[in-house]
This record gives sequence, structure tokens and C-alpha cells, in this order.
Amino acid sequence: MSKLFTPFPLSGLNLKNRVVMAPMTRARAETTVPDELTVLYYQQRAGAGLIITEGVPVSMQGRGYLFNPGLYMQEQVEGWKRVNAAVHQAEGCIFAQLWHVGRVSHTSLQPSGEAPVSSSAKLAANSNAYAYDENHQPGPVQASKPRALSVAEIAGIKADFVRAAARAMEAGFDGIEIHGANGYLFEQFINPTVNDRTDDSASFVGGRYQNDSLSFTLYAGQLEDAWHQYYANTKYTYAIDPGRRLALDFNIYRTLDYGRSVAGPINNTSWSLSTAYATGAHTFSLTHQQINGDEPLDWIGFGTMGGTITIGNAVQYATFTEANERSWQLRYDYDFAALGIPGLSFIARYVRGDNMDNAHSTNPYYTARHIYDADKNNKHWERDFDIRYVIQSGPAKEMSFRLRQSTHRATGGYRYVDIDEMRLITELPINVF
Ligand SMILES: Cc1cc2nc3c(=O)[nH]c(=O)nc-3n(C[C@H](O)[C@H](O)[C@H](O)COP(=O)(O)O)c2cc1C
Repeated sequence: MSKLFTPFPLSGLNLKNRVVMAPMTRARAETTVPDELTVLYYQQRAGAGLIITEGVPVSMQGRGYLFNPGLYMQEQVEGWKRVNAAVHQAEGCIFAQLWHVGRVSHTSLQPSGEAPVSSSAKLAANSNAYAYDENHQPGPVQASKPRALSVAEIAGIKADFVRAAARAMEAGFDGIEIHGANGYLFEQFINPTVNDRTDDSASFVGGRYQNDSLSFTLYAGQLEDAWHQYYANTKYTYAIDPGRRLALDFNIYRTLDYGRSVAGPINNTSWSLSTAYATGAHTFSLTHQQINGDEPLDWIGFGTMGGTITIGNAVQYATFTEANERSWQLRYDYDFAALGIPGLSFIARYVRGDNMDNAHSTNPYYTARHIYDADKNNKHWERDFDIRYVIQSGPAKEMSFRLRQSTHRATGGYRYVDIDEMRLITELPINVF
């Protein structure tokens, strides 16, 4: 007891006491935007060292309760700013609890009255959402039968959480908590009595041919009942003289839905062409990338692994692969071996993309995440610096350290947030076979 009212250092936050208020859904906002009552409610409780807010939906699809303030629109960010200012004024700290209810929802809460989503299509029997009944009266109603999320959509939900976390930072929260309990979306994936998925079934065939100056790669892949994806790459290098060379690198992906088309209709051809000129330690490259199709170029990632894509303008943060997007990249590489430091190299690049437009797509999953208005002339750019050192000898030979800095900026209508990011990557290659 003697310690309860003493301060507690929580990873850089100085809590004024050790009382933490548990997250509690209150359903007190008049809409989904935090209002005067929300401000008052949290202000009155700011005596706690830390408040965890009520569950805050990361998307409209993540809602299971009416009158529950969310974090998926700018107005909500503005509302939470006022809540956070009031709590901070009273020297309290506050975390947003980010929430997706999954199947514990009702069609009256969902975008366009659709079914809620979950790991499977199993009904949450005897579970209520707080929604509109058949007479349009708010109250507890049996949760609607859900539909199973496609693999492609799961990546979209991950992006919703990332965006909500960025909005939480913008709104001035001291941290976030991800709601992983009480039978909501995360638990619906973890719980084997709910999750009966058999996906992650992907296969591919392909091959590669290479000689000194020319290479061809060809792959065909299949994501079961979602899409067929074909990939080709060719690289050509021409040595002008011993110190100078020209290189071309062409990538093309063709993606078409097939079978049950569980990720919706997809018809996409995406390509990039890079030209590089190397002279001594310097390499200058120019890349053009074009996404042809009303759906974005998509690829497979599993769980927390985002997967990789081999196309010219997929760089540190953005991939410039939105529907109908065009992008250009300028890149400069320097090899410090020329200055007597073998193993040290540097990259600077700038990529600019525009023309994003998916307003004509009939794919409900991609368009549910974001619709680009072709008239808004959305643009974005990314600038990266990358410095890498590979140890050249001794027991740690081939171990590498890489420091990457990235800045990404976009006009208001772009799907992803502005970001300044620093990554330190250490690699220690181990020969297993
Ligand atoms: C009205 C009410 C709303 C709640 N809403 C949430 C919520 O939004 N998020 C959450 O993680 N837990 C929620 N909970 C669970 C509480 O945070 C807490 O874990 C639970 O009440 C058990 O703690 P207790 O034994 O002290 O009551 C809620 C509980 C109550 C009573």
C-alpha cells in the first residue's frame, strides 16, 4: 500500500502513481467521435497514474458497439486530442486501446451493412453486439454471422492497426495497447475452436538462366482460390570498358484472380525498367515503374512477415504499387573500396509516384481499405539513405551492418502515413548446408 501512490517509471513515462485504470467500453459518445462527455469522463479519472482507454476501433469494420469513439478518421483524432490535453493537464498518462471486434459485431454497424469478419464463418453464438435492432433502436443484438477473411484482407487489417497507432501518436496519446483478449478478432485467430482455416497454401514453379552478361527468370505462382501470379525478370549488363558499364533490369508481374476468387476480382500487370550507368565507384540509376490495373500489385506475406516483392521502386517504406500508379526513381550508389575501404557502400535515392486511381475497381476488399479519387491528383515521394559495411576478414567475416534512413511524404488522399524512419540491420550469414 505504501508504494501505491508513489511514482513509477514506465519505459520513459513517469507515472505519478501505480494505479492503472482498466480499459472499459463506455458507449457514451454521441457518434464515433470523442466529444465533451468523453473529455469529461477521462478528465475525471486522470488521478490514476495511467488510463487505458475504452476499446477504440481501428476501422469501421472493427466496431462492435454504437457510440464508441474510434481512431480511423481525422475528426476522431481531433476529438482525442482534447481528451489527451485534459488528462495531461491533470498530470495523468493515457494509452489508447486499439480494437477490432471481428465477429462480435452486427451488420448494422458494418460498412454497407455487410457481414462482420473473422478467422472463420462461425457464428459467435449467444454473444451480443451493441447495435441497432430491426426497429432501428440501439440495444444488445445477437452478433451477425461473420464471413472468413481472405489472406489479402488480413494484411489490410494489419495496416488499419498501424494507421490507428500513427493517429494515436498524432492525437497525443502516451502509448497504445492492442486489445488481444475477450473473444475479439485476435483471439478469434488464436482460438482453435473458432479458427478452422486451411489457407497459406501457395505454390510456384519457375527457373532461371544466367550467363556472363544476361539473365532471365520466370516464375508462375498460385495462391489457392485467390490468384495466379506470373513473374519475369531479365537483366543485361554491357561493359563499355573495364571501368564503365551499362545495366538494364526489367521486372514484370501479371496477376489474375481464379477459382473462388476469395480476394476478389484482380487484373493487374505491373512492370519496372531500371537503367544504370556505373563508372568507377559511382553508379547512377533511373527506374520507371508502372502499375496497370484498378487493383494494386499484391503479393504474399505470412503472419508478421510482410513478404518481399522484386520490382524496381519497392524501396524501404513504400512500394509504389497502388492501383494505376506510375513512379520514377533516381538512385546513386558509391563503393568506398575506391577510397581504400572495401566493404563500405552508400546509396541515396528518391522515388516519386502519382496517378493512383482505384475508383473503377469492383474488388470490395481493396476498395474497402481505401478509394483513390482520380480527380485529387494524389502524389507521394520517398527519400532513402543507406550505408552498409560488410566485415572483410576475421571470425566475423561477412557479418554486415546497415543503417537506413527513410523519409516519406504524401498528399492528403494517399493511403499510407507520412513517416521518418531509421533502421539498423545486422546480418550474420551462417552456412547450414
Ligand atoms: C463495462 C466494462 C467494459 C469493459 N470494456 C473493456 C474494453 O473495452 N477492453 C478490454 O480490454 N476490457 C474491457 N473490460 C474488461 C476490464 O478491463 C477488466 O479486464 C475486467 O473487468 C476484469 O477486471 P475486474 O475483475 O477488475 O473487473 C470491460 C469491463 C467492463 C466491466
